[in-house]
Amino acid sequence: MSATIIDGRAVAERVRAQVATRVAELARQGVTPGLAVVLAGDDPASDIYVRSKTRHAEAAGLRVFDHRLPASVDTGRLLALIQRLNADPQVHGILVQLPLPPGVASKAVLAAIDPAKDVDGFHVVNAGRLALGDPGIVPCTPLGCLILIRSVLRELAGRRALVVGRSNIVGRPMAQLLLHNDCTVTVAHSRTRDLPAICAEAEILVAAVGKPHAIAGDWIRPGAVVIDVGINRIEDAQGKSRVVGDVDYPAALEHAGAITPVPGGVGPMTIACLLVNTVNAAICAACGTDAPLVRPEASLDH
Ligand code: GUN
Repeated sequence: MSATIIDGRAVAERVRAQVATRVAELARQGVTPGLAVVLAGDDPASDIYVRSKTRHAEAAGLRVFDHRLPASVDTGRLLALIQRLNADPQVHGILVQLPLPPGVASKAVLAAIDPAKDVDGFHVVNAGRLALGDPGIVPCTPLGCLILIRSVLRELAGRRALVVGRSNIVGRPMAQLLLHNDCTVTVAHSRTRDLPAICAEAEILVAAVGKPHAIAGDWIRPGAVVIDVGINRIEDAQGKSRVVGDVDYPAALEHAGAITPVPGGVGPMTIACLLVNTVNAAICAACGTDAPLVRPEASLDH
């Protein structure tokens, strides 16, 4: 068997086109969705992510407010900036790129963001809404993964889904989203026993471990949908640097029914969903509501 390759770039392009259409509709009402991007320090990977987010946001017609701060920035200065952005009516979404420099109280900074502008969906209010199944802002990467799963599986109800990894950014919200879609969800983590046996049961497998080759190809249930969230830089046998996911991709192709590549799978979806969340936040601000009226993934089948 050779798996269908889920083309995250193509799906992300369709999501971004839908965003651009909604931005054009908002422009007719005199609203331009505004995204404030806060990058503190000089982490090269964060710099690349932020440039890409900014480029795509501008291409979709959003207004981007760039805030670059030195690595020496302290928590107080970041909190003051967040307060200014919370009060600015031109800013509908605030993205604070993580990780923040050592010494900054990251939790306090994220908690200071107005939940209605929390387009990363990391604020405790949005995390709580997701846990309760209420409309709110959903973290971008799990939202993107869900859209990719739905692009190849129409019916999720009753499916056995496995999320490997329990981070607040991916694993936990991913498990919640799958549960809201009526999957039977298992969350595996570093203390899980006999991961291969648990993988063998999974019709949907989301790998969010952050370790190359954490999931072997022959662990995968034949025909499963595999979503690889990992972005790991490794050196190949020739000493050349390249990016791989958490799944042994060449081996997994022989077992999975459908699989995302790395790069070109989940990564582009994270950015596309950031734009979705920002446009939704702008619509909510225009309507005077503090949370989307429907879950953001409701209208996102591609
Ligand atoms: N750092 C790594 N991933 C993310 C993300 O999705 N959002 C933010 N803000 N920072 C990150």
